[in-house]
Amino acid sequence: MLSRPVLVAFFALCFVAVAGCDKAPPVSQATPWSPADHERLPGEDDGPVERAPSGGAVVELVWAQRCVGCHAANGQGNGSAPVPNFSADAWQKSRSNAELAASIAKGRGAMPKFDLPASVVDALVAKVRSFAEPSP
Ligand code: HEC
Repeated sequence: MLSRPVLVAFFALCFVAVAGCDKAPPVSQATPWSPADHERLPGEDDGPVERAPSGGAVVELVWAQRCVGCHAANGQGNGSAPVPNFSADAWQKSRSNAELAASIAKGRGAMPKFDLPASVVDALVAKVRSFAEPSP
């Protein structure tokens, strides 16, 4: 059996806990949230804010994470047969940008399709073009 002081302390604690559940302020006193509420005060440390990569960084990230496995960092392919060599001038000349974009977005042969925004697909086409090495 619990001693009396322990029981008293227990109920006192319960009371404090319940009293802590204060009523929310009435709606009439609540101020609507505005973006300024999230702005930092002048002089406040920004801290290590991680920013989403944008523009060219997105393309480099997608290329590194989704394409390099088959196409290699230099675009010349990982050596498996159907992967084209993007550095080959003849190959570059054999395709239009629209064809390349369609292949990336819809897949082609052994390459899966990639569900990416059109702007990213276009930037990937530019990336593929950047591997071109004009034949001497
Ligand atoms: C699983 C391996 C694999 C991955 C991952 C892959 N590819 Fe490919 N890719 C291939 C193969 C194989 C071909 C040749 C397809 C064919 O012509 O049959 C190809 C062809 C291409 C072509 C030429 C298409 C054409 O019309 O001739 C482009 C451009 C291309 N890939 C871009 C990319 C990009 C960009 C990514 C990443 C978003 C990517 N690939 C990821 C395997 C891959």
